[in-house]
This record gives sequence, structure tokens and C-alpha cells, in this order.
Amino acid sequence: MGFVKAENFTDQELLNFIKDDSYNEYLAKKADKVRQEIYGKDVYVRGLIEFTNFCKNDCYYCGIRKSNSNIERYRLSFDEILMCAKIGYKLGYRTFVLQGGEDLSYKDEDICKIVEEIKKIHPDCAITLSIGERSKKSYKKFFEAGADRFLLREESSSKDHYYKIHPKEMSFENRRKALFDLKEIGFQVGGGFMVDSPYQTDEDLISDLRFLQKLKPDMIGIGPYLSQHDTPFKNMKNGSYKKTLRLISILRLMFPYCLIPATTALGTINPFGREEGLKAGANVLMPNLSPTSYRELYSLYDNKICTGDEAAECRNCLELRIKKAGYNIVTHRGDVSFYKKMYE
Ligand code: 5AD
Ligand code: FES
Repeated sequence: MGFVKAENFTDQELLNFIKDDSYNEYLAKKADKVRQEIYGKDVYVRGLIEFTNFCKNDCYYCGIRKSNSNIERYRLSFDEILMCAKIGYKLGYRTFVLQGGEDLSYKDEDICKIVEEIKKIHPDCAITLSIGERSKKSYKKFFEAGADRFLLREESSSKDHYYKIHPKEMSFENRRKALFDLKEIGFQVGGGFMVDSPYQTDEDLISDLRFLQKLKPDMIGIGPYLSQHDTPFKNMKNGSYKKTLRLISILRLMFPYCLIPATTALGTINPFGREEGLKAGANVLMPNLSPTSYRELYSLYDNKICTGDEAAECRNCLELRIKKAGYNIVTHRGDVSFYKKMYE
């Protein structure tokens, strides 16, 4: 492990990289080298528990938005969530990501109870929450209950663009503030965005990268925008696979220490997307642990992969894929490199 300087690309350099498919190999090679310096061949796995598909928001791109009356809604019970974690623990996961729509039927106390109970049974595990915007006070309670990390993609750092993909009832400012609140409280924080979400320009992407430079997150999740047939954006084009890979490499170069997943969306747009994501500089995979009977219902976008596979099948499949691509699965918590401090 060494100190690798974070690249500070100019806007023009970024623009050239973002626009041009011929940079993929060049960027991936550089990014893989940087990742290798800090994290070697290690790939961190996180067990994803999609515990509710109820959502009070109405993001235009998202299949579980509240106005979608064509999906069946579900909530996992407290015991079902614990069971997912137990199965996950047996399979070697030491991080659980509790993800859901913004479902206020879970009061702060309910979330705390889930976190506390998982921590009590599996004290060597990290818990990541991905449950959207709540007040700073609520976030503090979750942290005190034992949650370690929080994923909240900013989705767009350009105000104009933000309101092209979100209804006016949602707040651009609040989302950004939430990320800084989470950081201040002590969470390891993850931001991110979709690549080629409708109306996104290359300049918007640059502003996303600049925002992340200000936030200095521990984790950054990106994936291509994928259309979902029951949303207002159903006729919008899917994002570019190669551009997403390029952006993963750019992120690795700008944020050498970051935990960057090869996302399910990337694996959905291309059958080898996750492997190629790793080769482009990603170092995290987040396989699904939710019971298969609910998987189809967490349909943020169409054709999502792995909806029929049991947790154990996903685990085996991933292990084979990761090994074949030349990487190793890590089965400890996998916190962000301690070297992150050197970049602050
Ligand atoms: N295509 C790709 N990604 C999506 N997300 C939501 N809807 C879609 C879609 N249609 C992403 C958002 C969210 C994350 C959980 O999934 O960026 O933050
Ligand atoms: Fe649920 Fe966007 S539709 S947060």
C-alpha cells in the first residue's frame, strides 16, 4: 500500500474523457494500477437487503416511485430482515446494506431496533443504511444505534438537472445537506449518480465530480440510467455502458482510496458489466440477500439481474466471476482505506 496522488483533472480533460469512447482502455489501465496500489486485488462484498419497496417520493426515473400503482408493495418483517442477515453471515458477508424506498412507516426507533439487533447478533459486521433523506436528528439516532455507513446518492449536483429528474416537492438543497450532515455525525458516507440519466449533459457530470471533491465521500456508487416501463421516463434511452466504465476509472483516479462498487445496473446493461467494472477500477460488489420472492418487486429499472437466484447461488456465482477476473473476495468488514486521511 502506498500513497497515490489523487488526479486533479481540469474541466477540459474531464470533458474529453467523458465524451470519447476511445479513452476506455487508457483510463482503465491507469485506474487499475491505482486501485492495485491501495487495495491490491481485493474485492469487498456487501450483502444487500432490500427491505421495503414503499416510497413516499416520486423520482421520475425510479420504478418504486409512489405513483407507480402497477407494482405490488412489500415490507420485510423484523424477523425476515434478521434472517437475511443470518443467511448472509453464514455465506461470509460482514457488511449488510439495508436499502429501501423512503418509507416513513419505519419510525426512527424501528430502524434503530433493526440496527441494534443485527449488531447484537453479528458484532463483527458493519451496517450500511440506504434509506434516503431524514433529519439530522434521526441520522444521529441511527449512528448511535450502531449504523456505520450511509449511502445517499446526490443523483445530480446541478440544480437545473436535479429538477428535471425529480418533482419540485423534493429538495436539491436538502439532499446535499443530508450528505454533509451524515459526514459530520461520523458515518462513512457514499454519494453517487446515474450516468446518462435523462437530460444530463456532460457539464452536469463534471459538476457531479466537483461536488464529490467537496464532499470527500468514502464510497461512490454510479451506474447507467436504465429505463423502467412504469415511469414517466419509460421511453428514455438507457445510459451508455462504456461511458459508465470510463467514469468508474475517472472516479478511481480522482478518489484513489474510495470504495467504488461495480453496480447491479452495470451488470444489467452488460452480462460482464460487473467484471469489467472491477477491471475499470471498482472494488466492491453488492449481491442481493433479499428473499427471492420479493426480488422482482424491487424493480428500480427493467431487466434487473439476479432476481431469481438464492443468496447462496449469488455468492457462488460472484466468487467464480471474481476469481476468473483475477481478483479475490474479502470477507472482513472492508472499511475505507486508512490512507484516506492522507487525502484530506
Ligand atoms: N436506472 C438506474 N439506476 C436507478 N436508480 C433508481 N432508478 C434507477 C434507474 N431507473 C438508482 C438511483 C438510486 C439507486 C438506489 O438506484 O441512483 O440512488
Ligand atoms: Fe423513492 Fe426516488 S422514488 S426516493
